[in-house]
Amino acid sequence: MSPADKPVRVGMLGCGVVGSQVARLLLEDTAELSTRAGVKIELTRIAVRSIKDYPGLDPALFTTDPFSIVNDPEIDLIVEVMGGIEPARELAMTAINNRKSIVTANKALLASHGADLFTAAYAKGEDIYYEASVAGAIPIIRPLRDSLAGDFVTRLMGIVNGTTNYILTKMHEDNREFADVLKEAQALGYAEADPTADIEGFDAAAKAAILSGLAFHTRVTVDDVYREGISKITLEDVAIAKSMDHVIKLLAIAELTPADEISVRVHPVMIDKSHPLASVRDAFNAVFIEAESAGPLMFYGRGAGGQPTASAILGDIVAVSRHIALNSIGQRETDYADRDIAPIETTKTKFLIRLEVEDKSGVLAAIAKVFADQGVSIQTVDQNGRNDDAELIIVTHRATEGELKATVEALKKMSMVTKISSVIRVEGAIS
Ligand code: HSE
Repeated sequence: MSPADKPVRVGMLGCGVVGSQVARLLLEDTAELSTRAGVKIELTRIAVRSIKDYPGLDPALFTTDPFSIVNDPEIDLIVEVMGGIEPARELAMTAINNRKSIVTANKALLASHGADLFTAAYAKGEDIYYEASVAGAIPIIRPLRDSLAGDFVTRLMGIVNGTTNYILTKMHEDNREFADVLKEAQALGYAEADPTADIEGFDAAAKAAILSGLAFHTRVTVDDVYREGISKITLEDVAIAKSMDHVIKLLAIAELTPADEISVRVHPVMIDKSHPLASVRDAFNAVFIEAESAGPLMFYGRGAGGQPTASAILGDIVAVSRHIALNSIGQRETDYADRDIAPIETTKTKFLIRLEVEDKSGVLAAIAKVFADQGVSIQTVDQNGRNDDAELIIVTHRATEGELKATVEALKKMSMVTKISSVIRVEGAIS
């Protein structure tokens, strides 16, 4: 019997919001997906924490023992949709050592233990596919790993967290407070179980690690990613961004520096309204890539939710099943470039600094001198008078994070500066 005559037997780990959709669609569409793969795909077992009634799914499929699946010699392909690091890591490693390929949606696992898993999988000649781990339904892993394998990525910027994009959209469009919109995002099911993972940028940082590793052929972990969330963004910041024809977005940014290091970071950014990412609203995600030959590319779609995420997983199941049937594997991620991670202090960007100062002669000159002393060039200054005080909104030319930090520290020490209200990075022209 040739490999293509033998069905590919799939074992699933987890059956939550995403897993239940994968199981449902895989069973509903088995015939067509099998035709696309060139081999019959069979959903054989599903491991869950506790067995309950899953409508449309045969109770005989379920077990509470995930190791019985990864150790089952009859199973060829493991679909890991349980999330978290342990026991997902141990299960995936056991599966690989037992010569099974992996399809996973687990960004946290890949962003911390990706190197070990890839090394083990390649040593055994197995695939690890993970299209659903970043930006849900959006094809972005394979475009980076496969389609752009002949090009050189120089920069990527992504809106890769739906919850924060939803919150920022509502703050901009409906003038609503952060905390109020967060509750709504949680009720709509966008937020992670612990909303800190979304709001403070941990979820986006894991995704930034995965994308930048692929883009720059280097192992990047979540610990390499500089991270700030959106919890300090106020409606005043939003109003200023609007008045300058910008919007505030939580961006994952990864770029090559002039020293050929990788600068990888997640933080709020004021982005010019004319940039394609500025029009990505609500819980949608998008990734904007710049590559030497391709130029700019943008990938847009739903970054979360059961069925959209299942779409990416099913695509991986079809691709990996085909490889199993043909006794081959797909394009691999590579780490040959082994680039260093740039310290955040050396990263260059533009900044907007909003501060409250005493409104008297010499203040502006003294503040301008602090910027000049640190080598930070000012692009624009706006002043709004308020009785004895004034609000200054200063936008700089590109400066390093280190220079900016030193400037802010010096400003804080000035008696005429009563408050530094916000410091926000800027992408695109302010004019
Ligand atoms: N909580 C994530 C988001 C889900 O809001 O985008 C997908 O990782």
